[in-house]
Amino acid sequence: MSKQSPTSRSGRFTSGPGEDVARFTESISFDWRLWWHDIHGSLAHAAMLERIGVLTRAELKAIQGGLGQIAAEIEAGTFKWKPELEDVHMNIEAELTKRVPAGAKLHTARSRNDQVALDVRMWLRDEIIEFARELRDLQRALVELGAANASVIIPGYTHVQRAQPVYFAHHLLAYVEMLDRDYGRLLDCFNRVNVCPLGSGAIAGSTLPLDREFVATELAFVDAKGRPLVTQNSMDAVSDRDFAIEFCSLAALVAMHLSRLSEDVILWASSEFNFIKIADAYTTGSSLMPQKKNPDIAELTRGKSGRVYGNLVALLTLLKGLPMTYNRDLQEDKERLFDTVDTVRACARLNAAMLRHTSVNAAVCAAAASDSALLATDLADYLVRQGMPFRHAHHAVGAAVALAEKLGKPLGDLTAEELASVNAAFGADAKDSFNLGKAMARRNLTGAPGTKEVAKQLARWKKALK
Ligand code: ARG
Repeated sequence: MSKQSPTSRSGRFTSGPGEDVARFTESISFDWRLWWHDIHGSLAHAAMLERIGVLTRAELKAIQGGLGQIAAEIEAGTFKWKPELEDVHMNIEAELTKRVPAGAKLHTARSRNDQVALDVRMWLRDEIIEFARELRDLQRALVELGAANASVIIPGYTHVQRAQPVYFAHHLLAYVEMLDRDYGRLLDCFNRVNVCPLGSGAIAGSTLPLDREFVATELAFVDAKGRPLVTQNSMDAVSDRDFAIEFCSLAALVAMHLSRLSEDVILWASSEFNFIKIADAYTTGSSLMPQKKNPDIAELTRGKSGRVYGNLVALLTLLKGLPMTYNRDLQEDKERLFDTVDTVRACARLNAAMLRHTSVNAAVCAAAASDSALLATDLADYLVRQGMPFRHAHHAVGAAVALAEKLGKPLGDLTAEELASVNAAFGADAKDSFNLGKAMARRNLTGAPGTKEVAKQLARWKKALK
């Protein structure tokens, strides 16, 4: 374990670290995930070194061949990672140098400080693209479920108390809106991740005439017009992890949104609500109670929001006391970022799949939505249309609710006479307020759960998510 890498600090140090020190300081056990990006970063750096005359054409070819070989072995699972070489960067470079003498020139004007910043940015960029697709697909799954049950009406709730009727699709589209804001934040975050730090060296750039713009362009760090995007301050570039924190912060919002969706799903799937049925494959049984069918995906999604929040706080805390510039503390960023990415991506995928295997108990929803108390506000609006001030109308309908309770019947079952006995402004047509179909047709403000409006919103999202 005390073997020194010829590519590292061998000139300065006489002995290598002890085993427990090596184990404490290594990051290869988790940063091996950056291998693909590390190799592509090196390929671009090497190509640039050849352009500026540091590498000969033959040396570049040899380095390209060696890195290609190593990539193939990593891909095949035959590459041997060595913990004593600390991290992914030194493992790959040491192996390359062993095979290709010119490998010793690869680290010219490069530090692991700008290398790791590069690798993480490249890795996160790819993950963001995948995650954006998965978020879109989750939105699609919500729209599909809403559209497949377009006529289903459920009670909308405030304080988990029945409030007013809404289309089931309207409830689902609320989540589509939330996820759309998340999607926007994700694309915005991409723009700040997509800046190339290579060429910043350890802290102060290099005295060699590097072509940073060439490297950036090679690695697709470019704007919409194809112009290279490179960091503008070498000290900031090697110590900045804002892009990772920014991702973790938007991920925390996604996790919160998915946790709320999960809570709704869990309630709806309970025997008490029984609005939906999740397919067996997306639930689990109990080891003891044979009748149980548990909404574990939703519960775990709700639970996993905790680790996503925790990762965000861990990163903020990690950074807050760091003096400029790179400090080894920064190595602690990766597991938190990896875990966040893995967690939110899995949540998005699994929830989309679960929703695609969820059916709606239309009869149960219809029975719940037929609760005429849900239309008490509509009855008050009726009085407002008769010219009554809303505060008085609210009071009159409250009296009608009390009468219905006294008579032991639903509000909607009060006769026209009984309503008129509460307040003379209730005309013969007052009972029309309890016609659910008409009540839904009347809710046609933009953003309201009206029949036409919800159809319009469903159509809008179907088109947008095509
Ligand atoms: N494994 C390190 C990290 O993850 C790479 C950079 C190490 N730099 C250094 N000067 N020791 O941050």
